[in-house]
Amino acid sequence: MKVCIEKNYNQLSKLAADFIEDQVIKKSNSVLGLATGSTPVGLYQELVRRYQQKKLDFSQVVIFNLDEYIGLPANHPQSYRYFMKQHLFSKTNFKSNNVFIPSGQIKNFSQHCRWYEDKIRSFGGIDIQILGIGRNGHIGFNEPGSKFDSRTRVVSLDKTTIKDNSRFFDSFAAVPKRAITMGLATIFSAKNIILLASGENKKEILAKSLNGPASENLPASILQSHHSVTVIADKEAGLLLV
Ligand code: GLP
Repeated sequence: MKVCIEKNYNQLSKLAADFIEDQVIKKSNSVLGLATGSTPVGLYQELVRRYQQKKLDFSQVVIFNLDEYIGLPANHPQSYRYFMKQHLFSKTNFKSNNVFIPSGQIKNFSQHCRWYEDKIRSFGGIDIQILGIGRNGHIGFNEPGSKFDSRTRVVSLDKTTIKDNSRFFDSFAAVPKRAITMGLATIFSAKNIILLASGENKKEILAKSLNGPASENLPASILQSHHSVTVIADKEAGLLLV
């Protein structure tokens, strides 16, 4: 595992964008696994900037997003589909038929989950998976207790997650209680993983996840045994790593 501690959020975002840039230049039809939340917003801004400067072409890049809330219409401002459109897709040249985001509005969820897994495999797997981390150690929406061998599925959200994410909604009650997420084994199958962490409120969970004993009670700890993980933290999030 490689750990990079950057002096601020801006540098963290630029370094993450460097990894994506190298990957996309090396392989124009790269398969990227993307995340939502506030942490990767700077990375997406940086990718948009590099696209506008004509340094990057996303026309052949394939995207698989980690997760989606269940029950929100796709055009709801807090749906992850909307988030990705707003921060990245509407400002770049990703092709809509190369973008895959789990649907939170499907009738047959188990069939949809299997379809999502098959789709990832059909593109040869994910080249780089971007991850953030929840304060309880979740990655995607894999909450504590998620099995290390879990695949894409429907999950119930933890109280802490609902509370943390309520900052984006009108109230705690308005936050969906269920989501569809890639599983831990799905994430672990990615060829390379980049975990981003920013801010003091992530320092404890980041240190525990990377240095503490690996356990299904701490989903991000699965990353300890992956062959190619790069952690990019800013000074504040990396405080307990040095
Ligand atoms: C959300 C997402 C995760 C994200 C996490 C942290 O619930 N499902 O993929 O990594 O919370 O979010 P933030 O980056 O806003 O701290």
